[in-house]
Amino acid sequence: MQSYTHIEVQPVTPTIGALVRGVDLATVDDETWQDIFDAWMSHSVLFFRDQTMSPEQHLAFARRFGPLHVHPAAPYANGIPELMIIRTDRHSKRNNGSGWHSDVSADEEPPLGTILHLHEVPSRGGDTLWSSMYAAYDALSPRLQSFLESLTARHTSNYDGYYGDHTPQRAFPSAVHPVVRTHPVTKRKALFVNSSFTRRILELTAPESRSLLDFLLDHVQNPAFQCRFKWAPGSVAMWDNRCTQHMAIWDYHPMTRAGLRVSIKGDRPYLQSTG
Ligand code: SIN
Repeated sequence: MQSYTHIEVQPVTPTIGALVRGVDLATVDDETWQDIFDAWMSHSVLFFRDQTMSPEQHLAFARRFGPLHVHPAAPYANGIPELMIIRTDRHSKRNNGSGWHSDVSADEEPPLGTILHLHEVPSRGGDTLWSSMYAAYDALSPRLQSFLESLTARHTSNYDGYYGDHTPQRAFPSAVHPVVRTHPVTKRKALFVNSSFTRRILELTAPESRSLLDFLLDHVQNPAFQCRFKWAPGSVAMWDNRCTQHMAIWDYHPMTRAGLRVSIKGDRPYLQSTG
């Protein structure tokens, strides 16, 4: 197992997720940042407790991983489009991220990762689940893996009415991506289809595409690929959208769950041929 000099890392499952202790995300020096980055690449999702960083410090921490992503349609805080508001309360008709997804995968260059800081949480419920798309890919037969590697899929977004009367930041994106992608840092292969955005596998007939997507979208929900996080005020989760999907459970109405989310710009997904 990898060891870290500046942080303590406790894996949540052997497959995905780790709790990181001994760090204040408001003041991360270069060596600690490197440990966090290495742990993130190893565990795909990291969790931190009792973080008091301000919105500016949250933005600054995220910027250390790259330029920031702007969500196409979500409301944002303090006049800063990169600072997405996550809020569900007694008046909400829905919660953000209730279906399995990789954030804004309909973008040509989807965000590589997301850092969510919750300030207010319900006294019970409101957990988030993540699933490892490395594990989902690895669990398939070599024959199916190699067939999937020959395919691309269209991802489409439609946020019409999703965020109430908030005016979208830009046109709703749509893009074609490989069904299996290579992670640019770890070089591992990950399944890259999700139920919120992936609509059609382009090389197949419509019924073939539907059946294969149904199989894959069911497969990625296998609990063996997952971890689950129970939030507290001040908790932070950072996830890698290139190799995970997540869903936020809304089982706490009429209680409030609120915080801020910052995403980091990513590259265009690609599959590196290994043949
Ligand atoms: C999301 O960003 O998709 C929502 C995650 C959450 O609220 O736990």
